[in-house]
Amino acid sequence: MKKIVMITSYDYPTAKIVSEVEEVDAILVGDSLGMVVYGLPNTLGVTMEMMVRHTQAVARANPKQLIVSDMPFMSYEPGIRDAVINAGELVRAGADAVKLEGGEEMSDVVKAIVRAGIPVMGHIGMTPQRFLRLGGFRTVGKREGERERLLKDAEALEDAGVFSIVIENAYSEIAKEITEKVSVPVICIGSGPHCDGQVLVIHDVLGLGDFKPYFAKSYVDLKRVIGDAVRQYAREVLSGAFPSKEHYKSLES
Ligand code: KIV
Repeated sequence: MKKIVMITSYDYPTAKIVSEVEEVDAILVGDSLGMVVYGLPNTLGVTMEMMVRHTQAVARANPKQLIVSDMPFMSYEPGIRDAVINAGELVRAGADAVKLEGGEEMSDVVKAIVRAGIPVMGHIGMTPQRFLRLGGFRTVGKREGERERLLKDAEALEDAGVFSIVIENAYSEIAKEITEKVSVPVICIGSGPHCDGQVLVIHDVLGLGDFKPYFAKSYVDLKRVIGDAVRQYAREVLSGAFPSKEHYKSLES
């Protein structure tokens, strides 16, 4: 079966480029934007306003791929009513589905959002919005009870009606077990090759991030490419090589 390919995008130009890559199935407007776009230390500072703005920008690229938007920290935890209203706001901004973090404890929230007609993607494993409770960013599944917890969470999310589940930074054997157990597609990030698909943060893929987790792969060093281009521009301004004739109009020409 074809693997599902998902990648994040947060703005119009990258969404436009990604939308032209036929092999990509879904674009995630991830709350990772807090770190890679806004320079925040984690995702806890990401707000609904940010998610709406970036979802709108991605949607304006009119991609044929599914747009999944992350529900940010505290947009769904306080209560079911808030969760449904906020999920609706992301759909109004252009999302086709929303993603939220958490397992069994989020079942009622997932059910209510699905009941409102909004497809939900689950997210378990190393859930960045819960890094304080998890004791930091780490691979999960080895500590006592974690494997059983992850399996239970995946099953509970499936029962609640998610259409897919992301498993982040879990041991690959556990991700494999979950993928085999649940009937909805499982998309991995940092959880090995045995899932139905993979997702990566576009800044990691492009070599743009300040920090790249060990499980991400860069396919180009855009930091160097952009730096070289800006350096060249600066040098040409200083030397007078830019602007040249084709870049301006003169009354005499
Ligand atoms: O916010 C995000 O980019 C994500 C992915 C890491 C799955 O949730």
